[in-house]
Amino acid sequence: MGVLDGKTSLVTGASRGIGRAIALALAEAGADVALNYFTRREPAEEVAAKIHQLGRKAIVYKANVSKAGENGQMVEQVLKDFGPVQIVVNNAGITRDRSFGKMDREMWDDVINVNLTGPAMIIHRLISPMIESGWGRIVNITSIVGQMGNFGQANYAAAKGGLMALTKTLAREYARKNITVNAVAPGFVETDMTADVPDKVLDVVRNSTPMGRLGKPEEIAAAVVFLASPHASFITGEVIGVNGGMYM
Ligand SMILES: NC(=O)c1ccc[n+]([C@@H]2O[C@H](COP(=O)([O-])OP(=O)(O)OC[C@H]3O[C@@H](n4cnc5c(N)ncnc54)[C@H](OP(=O)(O)O)[C@@H]3O)[C@@H](O)[C@H]2O)c1
Repeated sequence: MGVLDGKTSLVTGASRGIGRAIALALAEAGADVALNYFTRREPAEEVAAKIHQLGRKAIVYKANVSKAGENGQMVEQVLKDFGPVQIVVNNAGITRDRSFGKMDREMWDDVINVNLTGPAMIIHRLISPMIESGWGRIVNITSIVGQMGNFGQANYAAAKGGLMALTKTLAREYARKNITVNAVAPGFVETDMTADVPDKVLDVVRNSTPMGRLGKPEEIAAAVVFLASPHASFITGEVIGVNGGMYM
């Protein structure tokens, strides 16, 4: 028996990295999982195959979460295939880094649209059936950068800070509907997103992290499963930092 037996979930950006780990952890806890991906179908299918091996339902859906038409079609199909989605994890995210003076409008818009507007649109589409089902958990993956700011990441910090504000507002709006809305704010985690960060920058990160290392995707996923579980039934509007002590 898992803590999420019988629950349905949607994870965006589930083809790799943190989203992949979240999808697998939700399935291990008993949930069926709708897996969103953008460009990498094969790795997403591999995640689905692993979930099938766990005896859970999993289907992959291609959509750019920042495009209203694409995420609308995805949500419609997910609702047909799974029924009301009870657990939504907005994980898909991108960076387009540049110091603020050199950051162009496209870099700004891309990051805001994927990291902030995408989650808002997806929640907006899924909230009515979630309310009708009488139980819901929304978990938004934000970032330590939204809490602290970071050189070269004005767009990303603004998007992730906005996502935390959205989380708190929706927590207030839906608390009486038995829906909790929380965020997880990872520190620096070993994924493709940090793979290109120069070693000397990662050394600075390690040195300013009390635990002296980067996080692993599974360590972020564990916090998401906790927030989605009945153990977190009185927690809403919270941002859980999973960062090895880098920000406290
Ligand atoms: N890694 C870190 O250190 C770190 C720290 C703090 C917060 N985070 C946050 O954690 C989340 C996951 O990060 P990660 O490190 O796992 O990233 P990652 O390895 O770069 O993976 C990004 C995922 O997002 C998907 N994606 C990107 N753009 C998309 C779009 N427009 N529509 C739908 N899906 C899209 C990708 O899909 P495809 O592969 O199919 O293209 C992929 O599955 C992000 O929100 C990120 O901001 C990461």
